[in-house]
Amino acid sequence: MPTVNHTRPEAPRDALTGKVALVTGASSGLGRAVAELLHRRGATVLGVARDASALASAMSDITGDPSDNRYFAADIGSSEACADAVAACVARFGGLDLLINVAGAHTLRHSHSVTDEEWADDLAVNLNGPFYLSRAAIPHLLERRGNIVNVASIAGVQGQAYSAGYCAAKHALIGLTRALAVEYSGSTLRVNAVCPGGMTTPLVAGFTFPEGVDFDLVLRSAAPRGLMRPEDVAALICFLASDDAAAIHGSVHLADNGKTAG
Ligand SMILES: NC(=O)c1ccc[n+]([C@@H]2O[C@H](COP(=O)([O-])OP(=O)(O)OC[C@H]3O[C@@H](n4cnc5c(N)ncnc54)[C@H](O)[C@@H]3O)[C@@H](O)[C@H]2O)c1
Repeated sequence: MPTVNHTRPEAPRDALTGKVALVTGASSGLGRAVAELLHRRGATVLGVARDASALASAMSDITGDPSDNRYFAADIGSSEACADAVAACVARFGGLDLLINVAGAHTLRHSHSVTDEEWADDLAVNLNGPFYLSRAAIPHLLERRGNIVNVASIAGVQGQAYSAGYCAAKHALIGLTRALAVEYSGSTLRVNAVCPGGMTTPLVAGFTFPEGVDFDLVLRSAAPRGLMRPEDVAALICFLASDDAAAIHGSVHLADNGKTAG
């Protein structure tokens, strides 16, 4: 007589379940969509962003717990704040598996009138922050076969008018991704980058145009199929961060709805 197995087959384990993730920019737009998807897929997320109250409200919406305090408010342009954010994550959750550098800022300006301070601000949030966080996180990521996903932009692979600092920082972020990938190629650490095209987020909704801009130049970076939803780009980021992407290391992925195709 054949024996019948009455035990229910186990559901396949999500490749993100149980991971600890530090997500910057989690209060808004793409970072929030990434934090939400990681949480839904069973990861523990520490959200990092500049504005504490917006971050607290985003994280409690995501987890459905009004008293949720899985967040760390920090200006990622400060190396001390970045080190503190990583230390807080490790102290609280016992380690770190995923560093997702999403926070960024983009202000349109005539390059000939950019001040030293504005130039430094562009680099601080879009480039220095991801480096400071990576530097602090790498020893912990190495302990747990962890990985880093950097959010660059199509401005990291092509020029955009009135965006010299932003473009320079995003190109450099891709360089940082590749440099780390080569340096740690003998270890288990993975490092990748995603380059989104235009998305419906507060960053785009808040664009203001300096006087005298040539809108034909501005429209050169407009998406031919319109703006994407941040959730669609978040899915790619979460895939790269998951163990399903174990073979993907040192690569740069466009998610631009065809913008750079030609
Ligand atoms: N929205 C787009 O069309 C678009 C296109 C390409 C790339 N991107 C990139 O996607 C990422 C997310 O952008 P978004 O559209 O969701 O923007 P957003 O303005 O909605 O969110 C930006 C997030 O970054 C955080 N942030 C900004 N400056 C910070 C600082 N100094 N310290 C800590 N946190 C800071 C904010 O608090 C917020 O959480 C950015 O890196 C941006 O460059 C966006």
